[in-house]
Amino acid sequence: MITGIVAIANNFAIGKDGKLPWHYSADLKFFKQTTINHVIVMGFNTWKSIGKPLPKRLNIVLSREANIENQPNVLLLRSKAEVLALSKYLNCNLFIIGGAKTYENFSDEIEKWIVTEVPLTVKNADTFMPEGFLSGFERAETQKLEDDLQVKIYTRD
Ligand SMILES: NC(=O)c1ccc[n+]([C@@H]2O[C@H](COP(=O)([O-])OP(=O)(O)OC[C@H]3O[C@@H](n4cnc5c(N)ncnc54)[C@H](OP(=O)(O)O)[C@@H]3O)[C@@H](O)[C@H]2O)c1
Repeated sequence: MITGIVAIANNFAIGKDGKLPWHYSADLKFFKQTTINHVIVMGFNTWKSIGKPLPKRLNIVLSREANIENQPNVLLLRSKAEVLALSKYLNCNLFIIGGAKTYENFSDEIEKWIVTEVPLTVKNADTFMPEGFLSGFERAETQKLEDDLQVKIYTRD
């Protein structure tokens, strides 16, 4: 199963200056619990932003040209096709963890979205989700992380 996981502000912002424009430890904890022991796929900009492999997960980094140092738990792939070919052999979930370009690339393959709704409007954000990214999906579940932070899970209609 290919799942997109994203935290999104009221104005659909997801990033600013190459970083997450907020810090919610409850969401980071939720993200860790959800993805641990699975495979995560990220674009090169998100890889640069995180700065190191996330532990106890296979970190797939996508880039057409960039190189990264060989290191445990990190796999550099060059295309979506390479990710999809590998996914056939996986006995675990594959999470697309961003950023915007990477979500966009996998939008046809994502079967489930896990969306943390961040109760902020981020001024001067530079990275956004397209407003219609959940069209064709319906809400299956809602989970409360903190008083003002909710996670909504969507599956295909
Ligand atoms: N709120 C959230 O949940 C969340 C999650 C993740 C990231 N973010 C934020 O999003 C921002 C980064 O997003 P972004 O859209 O700029 O970048 P991104 O998706 O992280 O990375 C884009 C790069 O990934 C590579 N790539 C993507 N798709 C590819 C494909 N199909 N084949 C080969 N390479 C591919 C390309 O690298 P090359 O140019 O090297 O070929 C592309 O330029 C940051 O601000 C980050 O903090 C937010």
